[in-house]
Amino acid sequence: MDQAQKISSRLEGYRNKAPNERLDQLATATGLSQGDSAALAGQGVLTVERANGMIENVIGIFEMPMGVATNFTINGDDILIPMAVEEPSVVAAASYMARIARDNGGFVTSSTLPVMRAQVQVIGVTDPFGARSRILGAKERIIETANSRDAFLVKLGGGCKDIEVHVFPESRRGPMVVMHLLVDVRDAMGANAVNTMAEAVAPIVEEVTGGSVRLRILSNLADLRLSRATVTLTEQSLATKEFSGRRIMDGILDAYEFARIDPYRAATHNKGIMNGVDPVVVATGNDWRAIEAGAHAYAARSGQYTSLTTWEEDKEGRLVGTLEMPMAVGLVGGATKTHPAAQAALRVMNVKSASHLGEIIVAVGLAQNMAALRALATEGIQRGHMALHARNIAIAAGATGADIERIAAELARLGDVRTDKARELLEQSR
Ligand code: COA
Repeated sequence: MDQAQKISSRLEGYRNKAPNERLDQLATATGLSQGDSAALAGQGVLTVERANGMIENVIGIFEMPMGVATNFTINGDDILIPMAVEEPSVVAAASYMARIARDNGGFVTSSTLPVMRAQVQVIGVTDPFGARSRILGAKERIIETANSRDAFLVKLGGGCKDIEVHVFPESRRGPMVVMHLLVDVRDAMGANAVNTMAEAVAPIVEEVTGGSVRLRILSNLADLRLSRATVTLTEQSLATKEFSGRRIMDGILDAYEFARIDPYRAATHNKGIMNGVDPVVVATGNDWRAIEAGAHAYAARSGQYTSLTTWEEDKEGRLVGTLEMPMAVGLVGGATKTHPAAQAALRVMNVKSASHLGEIIVAVGLAQNMAALRALATEGIQRGHMALHARNIAIAAGATGADIERIAAELARLGDVRTDKARELLEQSR
């Protein structure tokens, strides 16, 4: 689609359409090609042959639902966001909060440069601080050698930019020195690029320290590659039929404080954020384990595991939410390049760079967090979640075709979303 063309992510009644109608509407809204539409529909696009080239011992393809979050406005641009996820109510919740956010100007995002860390572990030194100094003294040589392994990345403006040296004088295995290469990986996830560089510089590190290099590998605590999203919401925009805006705002602030101070709550709170983050990471063929590892390590960076988001009230009495987290996603390499649906997902969002994708992902994470906090702090999570989960229960009980929606609606109406009840309703209707 033409970069200058603006799309609207406000697709009225989208949820009530059939999947093929939704796909057509998405294709029209985003100017998607037939090939990309077919890829998103999952019509045999990831062939076994292709899958066999991706991992080992392949026997087939595992499929997952692909949905689209509507209503998102990010930095003034409307955007429709593909989400690959098995859990009900996630896509609905993200779309719900994005709808409220868009009336308040939407999400505002930013990011750091895409800098990844690679670690080189050195053991067998008796003067770890001296070794540190000697490594820092050899910085130019180390950077030059690292960059000699990826001339293309350097040509694109990336490459190894700096080093750090961390010392662990009292490790149980004797003093340990760990050098970090700080590498701007541009639009790559970067693992392969930084691992190659770390292996290439190891001999220099051994030479200057007199020690032995063991591990040479990236760190998933990508704390120099952060994406951020902010949303600012008026009290009125939060109000529902049952709850005032003030009540919802206080509920979200209390819920946040709970997650900030209590790791047991923080784990679940952050899981809720990842409910938004991971489906976009998966839909774009990125490494969700890397994102998960980075997220939780970042959440514990102060020594206490805590919330990844913050929720505050500003001077005008508006609710301000922020999310900042490591975001090691790429547009080139890996499944992002080999999976046709991942390519199509990137085109749906008109993604311009890896950092742009990272910003979209954190906006969804923030929306998801807010949706869960709003529900938890008011009516409870089960009302919205179970009403949508009821369709899964109906299917598990044996419902097919139109029976799925009918039985699910009945379960939700009765407030009794159980497989036994679904079976009973099915039998009654047969
Ligand atoms: N499908 C798609 N979108 C849906 C939806 C559905 N079944 N139900 C709600 N939405 C979204 C839509 O964007 C809708 O507005 P739009 O259709 O104009 O775009 C918006 O939510 C509001 O719809 P409404 O019917 O008023 O929603 P609701 O008040 O019944 O809320 C939930 C339903 C699920 C969105 C809400 O309960 C929620 O956010 N719950 C938390 C769910 C959660 O956090 N899940 C994570 C795992 S537990």
